[in-house]
Amino acid sequence: MKPIKKICCIGAGYVGGPTMAVIAKNCPNLEVEVVDINESRIKAWNDTNLDNLPVFEPGLSEILKDVRNKNLTFSTNVEYSIKKSDMIFISVNTPIKKKGMGAGQTSDLRWVESCARQISQSAKGHTIVVEKSTLPVKTAQTIKEILDSPSINNSNEDRTFSVLSNPEFLAEGTAISDLVNPDRVLIGGDDLEAMNALKEIYIKWVPESKIIFTNLWSSELSKLSANAFLAQRISSINSLSAICEVTGAEIGDVSDAVGMDSRIGSKFLKAGPGFGGSCFKKDILNLVYLSRFYGLNEVADFWQETVEINSWQKTRIYKEIVARLFGNLADKKIAILGFAFKENTNDTRESPAIDICKNLLDEGAFLNIHDCKVNEETIDKDLCRKKSSNRKMWACKKDVYSVFEDAHAVILMTEWSIYKTLDWEKILPVVKQPFWVFDTRLIVNPKVIKNLGINLWQLGNGMNQ
Ligand SMILES: NC(=O)c1ccc[n+]([C@@H]2O[C@H](COP(=O)([O-])OP(=O)(O)OC[C@H]3O[C@@H](n4cnc5c(N)ncnc54)[C@H](O)[C@@H]3O)[C@@H](O)[C@H]2O)c1
Repeated sequence: MKPIKKICCIGAGYVGGPTMAVIAKNCPNLEVEVVDINESRIKAWNDTNLDNLPVFEPGLSEILKDVRNKNLTFSTNVEYSIKKSDMIFISVNTPIKKKGMGAGQTSDLRWVESCARQISQSAKGHTIVVEKSTLPVKTAQTIKEILDSPSINNSNEDRTFSVLSNPEFLAEGTAISDLVNPDRVLIGGDDLEAMNALKEIYIKWVPESKIIFTNLWSSELSKLSANAFLAQRISSINSLSAICEVTGAEIGDVSDAVGMDSRIGSKFLKAGPGFGGSCFKKDILNLVYLSRFYGLNEVADFWQETVEINSWQKTRIYKEIVARLFGNLADKKIAILGFAFKENTNDTRESPAIDICKNLLDEGAFLNIHDCKVNEETIDKDLCRKKSSNRKMWACKKDVYSVFEDAHAVILMTEWSIYKTLDWEKILPVVKQPFWVFDTRLIVNPKVIKNLGINLWQLGNGMNQ
């Protein structure tokens, strides 16, 4: 097999952009191009002002400064990029299907299929196609069939393909450090030469012991399983947060005590308003769908419950808020601190803030929203509902203290660090009384709040209900 010199990544999103930036940085001999059909996204990746990048990730702009327009480029010319590349990563979106068979359960593969068709039409010589997107088990088979289909691959040129699965395990907010120092790199395939060619790239910065070879189906299933396990830990601790509130226990203490057991470990044991992000729910639902497809209904029910608890957590927080505000939110101003699904990202996909804010709007509240990285356009898009009245019942504030003016309550939704050090004495004179703090992230100091005579509801804190 000829050495890999040019690689292309289809999809310039939260995975494609950062992943290729790290590959380009560590493999200066490789020409890396990220392509996308979304022109404004590519324009933003090429913006000279690095504050305008479409993805916010700590450390990303520093890497781009080094490699952009050297051995890393961003372009909309998908066809040309495919033509000249030896290896192509598919890193497009795979959201849950909205309509038709499997709606609400399995991934919509239209973007992946369209990539496979484009590759089949435009590739030259031997091309290694790498699944970077998270995909239902057996998708590699579909990609292979499309690539090898004579109806598409109808030229006389001798074109061949190897398909690999190389799922991405990065977490938003820590994407760069996860990519630079991954727990493992998983390469699934049945063509050892192609698998070694991909390994040659990672080995430039990842220790060999962390690069694992499996078959295609183990690799595809491992990604779904890893996300299902992580989400299940969050749902587990969140279910316990409700028990803490009624028994007088404190969820922080329970997490610490449980997490100190070396068999369990302390990560992903922080209670909160529910998991968000584009992946967890979608990947568990795919696992549920797969289990039902094979008649494994008990397995499907087991994983489905992880998603149910997550929805329930958001609903119960909303109900707690309404109950404490005398069952009436009409004409009340509520401050919302944080809209991203977690700190250090500008991503709001499946953010618990969306569902909770929508419920509060339905109750007639006016919301003053602040987030450190999410822009107003995204918040408007997330909150707009077809049935809503013409009047926009929320405002986005740039200054964190201005959300408090005339507010009856504040809800801490995202754990941005600036929210941990708010000056509550400065806030007190501008709010309405009685004023409530609803802390879904356990980031305020209950003593400080209580000493100022402010009402506090803190998730999972049975001492302060
Ligand atoms: N976001 C994460 O934290 C994360 C982590 C690990 C894995 N994943 C998986 O990686 C995949 C990508 O996720 P993401 O968050 O980067 O998605 P994203 O929505 O941010 O980006 C996907 C991009 O693909 C582009 N695209 C779609 N079809 C295309 C086509 N035919 N040609 C060119 N461009 C096309 C879209 O325009 C979009 O910009 C998903 O399968 C996701 O499940 C995501």
